[in-house]
Amino acid sequence: QNARIKIDVDRTIGEVDKNIYGNFVEHLGRCVYGGIYEENSPLSDENGIRLDVLDAVKELNVSITRYPGGNFVSNYNWKDGIGPKDDRPARMELAWSRLESNHFGTDEFMAYAKRMGTEPYFSVNMGTGTIKEAQEWVEYCNVKSGPYYAELRKKNGHEEPYNIKYWSLGNEMDGFWQMGHLNAEDYSKKAREAAKLMKLTSPEIKLIAAGSSNYRPNADPNEWNEKVLHELRDVIDYLALHMYVGNVENNYYNFVSSPLVLEERTRVVKGLIDREMENADRGNRPPIYIAWDEYNIWYRARGEETMAGTKALEERYNLEDALVISGFLNAFIRNADIVKMANMAQLVNVIAPIFTSEKGMFKQTIFYPIQLFANNVKGTSLDVHVDCETYDTGEFFIGLGESTTIQKDVPFLDVSATYNNGEVIVCVMNRNKDKAITTDLLCQEGIFDGEFEVYEINGSDIKSENDFGKTSVETKKKSSLKVKKTDKITYDFPAHSFTMI
Ligand code: AHR
Repeated sequence: QNARIKIDVDRTIGEVDKNIYGNFVEHLGRCVYGGIYEENSPLSDENGIRLDVLDAVKELNVSITRYPGGNFVSNYNWKDGIGPKDDRPARMELAWSRLESNHFGTDEFMAYAKRMGTEPYFSVNMGTGTIKEAQEWVEYCNVKSGPYYAELRKKNGHEEPYNIKYWSLGNEMDGFWQMGHLNAEDYSKKAREAAKLMKLTSPEIKLIAAGSSNYRPNADPNEWNEKVLHELRDVIDYLALHMYVGNVENNYYNFVSSPLVLEERTRVVKGLIDREMENADRGNRPPIYIAWDEYNIWYRARGEETMAGTKALEERYNLEDALVISGFLNAFIRNADIVKMANMAQLVNVIAPIFTSEKGMFKQTIFYPIQLFANNVKGTSLDVHVDCETYDTGEFFIGLGESTTIQKDVPFLDVSATYNNGEVIVCVMNRNKDKAITTDLLCQEGIFDGEFEVYEINGSDIKSENDFGKTSVETKKKSSLKVKKTDKITYDFPAHSFTMI
């Protein structure tokens, strides 16, 4: 019997927020310096912007970009990164052991964001930083004129305020590795006071609190989430969650099930949010949403040597990684009612879809699923019914520093669907390593009619990688399906592939 995917446009989950196609630029390794920005390179313009990189970045249609960290931000003083470049102080960068020249800062990032066509999303320093510094940064960015920092921005050549809407209250403050790490109570107090000052300065901003990033065996991530949600429920708009997975044990089937763990965590946090919303005082503001504002695969470039200096976190990705990313994106769509922001970490070189050298760049395998989703998947997320064979994993580590998990009844087909202006978009990852899965797509309401475009991401082997001058994995446009008023389309989803119809 064929597998079945039942599509009913009346069974809806929620509107897909474009901000789930976000990304992240941190002052880490070669993400900024040697990535998006390289002074004196023949590939850069007069402002130091790498034009080849910018072209690739634009293809990703990045809706929102988080900046400037990450762990970096927890010892960052934004004032070091403004004004004439020659006057900016170089600093020891303690999170990732680099010398920070500060030649790239707030104004350079905002110019870059404009060229990318992305919404900026800033993170303030809740580690070594003060609530006053956070307030002053908002003043520099969002106040038109009058107070000192607004005037300083104008003096620096930026007459109009940037009106940055999204601000996060620190990064991974639950992590013992974070500079200035706090316990949940102390974090909540500091974040609430920072929020107060920031909102008094610019009332329209949206605030994102640092949720759990520490899922180590002895951590209690949901105790942190509960406390932060309880204390900040009237103030924040999103709770940020982070997750990195990896194939440490080189077990393909375990690895490709790991996005389901993200989905489990989403459901738990959604429950915690629902409970707090019952007694929250939010006026007419919407409930708190989840921002997965760091997610990716990160396990090879771990350890002291690969996590420090100018070449840090330089993961090279293969086909199975691209499948996992499509699984994450499907999971965001399936939870579109609560996940309203997501940011791949990060944009260039550092665990990233784009990889550069001094001479050029190439697109990693994970570039292709985010490009496909960001340019096509919008509208209303549908609650599809999937009927296919399943498998169980053994106990496994989903990532370094994570507790173990077991996943039962993992469907070979990982599916999401959306409906937008009469068009259905179905995204299917076939986890089966060896077999194509013949599947009936069944229309439960209305009919399928017209030409269905088909895109596929695949490669000869699950370990296929791209490199400079070599593209083994990319999106291929397949022949369209020409359909005449029918309620069934039958399609063979190839082994280890991602397909968008
Ligand atoms: O994205 C790399 C790092 O991962 C970030 O700096 C930090 O927030 C997380 O631990």
